[in-house]
Amino acid sequence: MTASRQGWFEGWRLFAVLALTALCVWISGMRGFEVEGVRAVIRFTARTSLLFFCLAFSAAALARLWPNAWTRWQRRNRRFLGVTFAASHGLHGIAILCFAIMDPAGYAAATSAASYIFGGIGYACIIAMTATSFDRTAQMLGPRAWRALHLTCGYYLLFQFTVSFGKRVPDMPLYALFLIPLVTVFVLRLVSMAAKAAPRPARTA
Ligand code: HEM
Repeated sequence: MTASRQGWFEGWRLFAVLALTALCVWISGMRGFEVEGVRAVIRFTARTSLLFFCLAFSAAALARLWPNAWTRWQRRNRRFLGVTFAASHGLHGIAILCFAIMDPAGYAAATSAASYIFGGIGYACIIAMTATSFDRTAQMLGPRAWRALHLTCGYYLLFQFTVSFGKRVPDMPLYALFLIPLVTVFVLRLVSMAAKAAPRPARTA
């Protein structure tokens, strides 16, 4: 996932991030910029982050298992999908900060030591992945360390999404639907890894 620092925030990428920001302002404005609006933005950005994360983290596996025009597009653009996920989660962070400032009691009730520890590690992963998603920083790190960092952080975020959505399932069973893309990405990666490791059949002609 490397990207040129100069070229990222332009064209469609710029449009995507601005559209996401405008949607957050709109969602919050629908509720008069009150706490409920900010909480709706936290939920909205958690879901847009899920979408971009799953697209980025499944790209290589899908392209290996089903090479076609769409999966090749997805793999070609996975660095940008990854950075768009980071931008979406940046908005999640800003909305969390607004929630903490606007309603400290409600915020304290909605969070715990565990959400700071696990969520904090999640943000550290996102920052590390984004910081090394540019040509120069990726080169400084070297391909082996880059791969180890992105794999570890990617799986950690998969776990974090699963816990964050999963813990809401007992109260809101429909939240189980959010677990479907997460399990799918995990299985796709396992199958793709097995396909890569399997010996290729010898050619007969
Ligand atoms: C220190 C870091 C974090 C804090 C303090 C935090 C805080 C919160 C809070 C307060 C909510 C509930 C909002 C509400 O019910 O109104 C929430 C929802 C959520 N957060 Fe975070 N978060 C953090 C990091 C993360 C990370 C790293 C992820 C995923 C990688 C994540 C994923 C989610 C998800 C999936 C939801 C549920 C959204 C929904 O209800 O649809 N959070 N977070």
